Amino acid sequence: MAERRKELVEVISKEALAKDIFSMWIRTDAAKTAVPGQFISMYTNDGSKLLPRPISICEIDKENGALRVVYRVTGPSTGTEEFSRMQAGDKLYIIGPLGNGFPLKEKKAFLIGGGIGIPPMLELAKQLKGEKQIIIGYRDSDTFLDKELEQNGKVYIATEDGSIGTKGNVCDAIRENALNAEVIYACGPTPMLRAIKEYALENGIECYLSLEERMACGIGACLACVCKTKEKDEHSNVNNKRICKDGPVFLATEVEI
Ligand SMILES: Cc1cc2nc3c(=O)[nH]c(=O)nc-3n(C[C@H](O)[C@H](O)[C@H](O)COP(=O)(O)OP(=O)(O)OC[C@H]3O[C@@H](n4cnc5c(N)ncnc54)[C@H](O)[C@@H]3O)c2cc1C
Ligand code: FES
Repeated sequence: MAERRKELVEVISKEALAKDIFSMWIRTDAAKTAVPGQFISMYTNDGSKLLPRPISICEIDKENGALRVVYRVTGPSTGTEEFSRMQAGDKLYIIGPLGNGFPLKEKKAFLIGGGIGIPPMLELAKQLKGEKQIIIGYRDSDTFLDKELEQNGKVYIATEDGSIGTKGNVCDAIRENALNAEVIYACGPTPMLRAIKEYALENGIECYLSLEERMACGIGACLACVCKTKEKDEHSNVNNKRICKDGPVFLATEVEI
């Protein structure tokens, strides 16, 4: 399948958005078919790091054959640290687009992103047609992508230290602003997704969660990334789904988190 082939791509530009957060545009054939909520697997050029790093697609520019990713450097000498040092003209291998993506519903929506779960919300906000309320959570005032999201919907910010917007998390921001929606899209840390799932169940709202798990192959072959599901997986015949292949986006009621 063409989308599983490794592709050598070129960095168009890279910039720092906040402390340890970087944005990068790459020229890639993956832009032709990519949809919001999908991800790419990015290989480092360091031979000692064999596995690719899964990174969500933040923006899609089909006209110019380009994708944008926004990533957090997780520590010194990591793959993401290598990506943060790349410059325009540098080359790297990727595979993608991978995974399923968010179903686009024309309904009053919450787009919820926590920390490094915020990037996929930008392309989703650009493509969704209905009323959009974008609720994003940060640790402190060192925010990123908020100004760009504001051009695509009404943005509500929550910060853990209360320096901007609601003090607390995204659920606190929903309560404080008395917001409501008919469909929820969310990506972020598991405790946040758990709270959103509970909120959606209590209020009977259709809810799609983008899950994150450590990955190895990234294409559905190794079962490193399974999550527990209600239904049996036809691939392994157990109550599992592979986040890289069957997800990363799941209907909240399908998965146990
Ligand atoms: C579907 C999906 C989308 C993601 N989107 C983004 C994004 O848009 N921006 C962003 O900053 N991060 C994103 N992540 C997390 C990102 O993949 C990890 O932070 C990154 O792989 C860590 O690599 P490293 O080189 O910094 O760390 P290392 O410690 O060097 O990584 C070692 C190995 O563990 C794997 N690994 C470590 N942490 C994770 C993790 N949390 N998830 C999956 N694999 C991991 C790496 O891929 C690598 O194979 C996403 C993860 C998934 C599963
Ligand atoms: S990472 Fe191998 S099956 Fe998902």
